[in-house]
Amino acid sequence: MNKNSLEIKFREVRKATEAICKPLEIEDYSVQPVIDVSPPKWHLAHSSWFFEEFVLKQFANDYKIFDEDFAYLFNSYYNNAGERVLRPNRGLMTRPTVKRVYDYRDHVTQAVLELLKERQDEGLLEIIEVGLNHEQQHQELLAYDIKYILGHQPTFPKYNGNFVLGSESQPQEFVSIGEGVYDIGHNENTFCFDNELGRHKTYIQPFEISNKLVTNEEYIAFIEDGGYTDFNLWHAEGWDYINTNSIQAPLYWYFTKGKWHYYNFEGLEPVNLSEPVMHISYYEAFAFAQWKQMRLPTEFEWEVASSKFNWGQLWEWTSSAYQPYPNFAKADGALGEYNGKFMVGLQVLRGASIATPRNHSRKTYRNFFHPSLQFLFSGIRLVK
Ligand SMILES: [Fe+2]
Repeated sequence: MNKNSLEIKFREVRKATEAICKPLEIEDYSVQPVIDVSPPKWHLAHSSWFFEEFVLKQFANDYKIFDEDFAYLFNSYYNNAGERVLRPNRGLMTRPTVKRVYDYRDHVTQAVLELLKERQDEGLLEIIEVGLNHEQQHQELLAYDIKYILGHQPTFPKYNGNFVLGSESQPQEFVSIGEGVYDIGHNENTFCFDNELGRHKTYIQPFEISNKLVTNEEYIAFIEDGGYTDFNLWHAEGWDYINTNSIQAPLYWYFTKGKWHYYNFEGLEPVNLSEPVMHISYYEAFAFAQWKQMRLPTEFEWEVASSKFNWGQLWEWTSSAYQPYPNFAKADGALGEYNGKFMVGLQVLRGASIATPRNHSRKTYRNFFHPSLQFLFSGIRLVK
């Protein structure tokens, strides 16, 4: 990306993160209700820390560090960048204040813009582009975390944000994809993360894939048919997890006044039957597919078929474990910790969601989460 487009994008992305937090009250900013949900204040600061640590400290000779403590407070998981507050303790930090974190953001934003006036070497532009894509990932996480924070208030407050799910009311069709050897991975002259590189050939058996996501109506049929009580549908690990954690429905679902309701950013409302089911774990997606006597796509099948259907409402669980592609190479130094070290025990999701920033999705994008998690904007597409 050239300097001018990068500068425009930088301004837009920094503003967009703040816009997501705008509807929040000050009390919403600092809580961490569960380990996976970080405080919005932490996201605002950490996405600035990334630029301070990897751009300003490396490239700007006269950069004045905003606060020496912040390197420790807002590093996420980069061992190469030093000690840090451990993840479960992010919600304990009532200091620095929200105001000071916004001041930190302004300080970093202005310093990066100043630096861009002075230098435009390729190494700098590349790392700023990584920082922007990193911040956009945190914008999506902010949507998940804000939903969790508000969705666990006894009052189910309205968010007044902009994440609206459409219906999946088109007639269902299964698209046939022929047997063959297909190229998998990124090969365009555009940004991608390192985990999409290592383009390689993969043999794929013939399969048929649904043109739509599984709807709430179909998922309620699964629940009513005893889907959560039939151990034959579940992985051992999934069965154990739903029983230990008393899970009997998607996250945010409540059975009240004779029907299913959910928290959907607007308050607690009756479940809209034609929307795609969301907030299901991989365990649940797998059990649902078993119940339908179908299966989930592999990430390779998904990528090959992706031009044949609309996607982008919800991240779609695949049956593929998150593994390095052949010839995957980690970057040197701290940024080598970005993706590679998570390639064990997680499941790949493909597509994008209503919380994914525009221009931040592509068919080769590999998202990854633990199979037990429901708080992401996840859905189900079936294959037979
Ligand atoms: Fe991060």
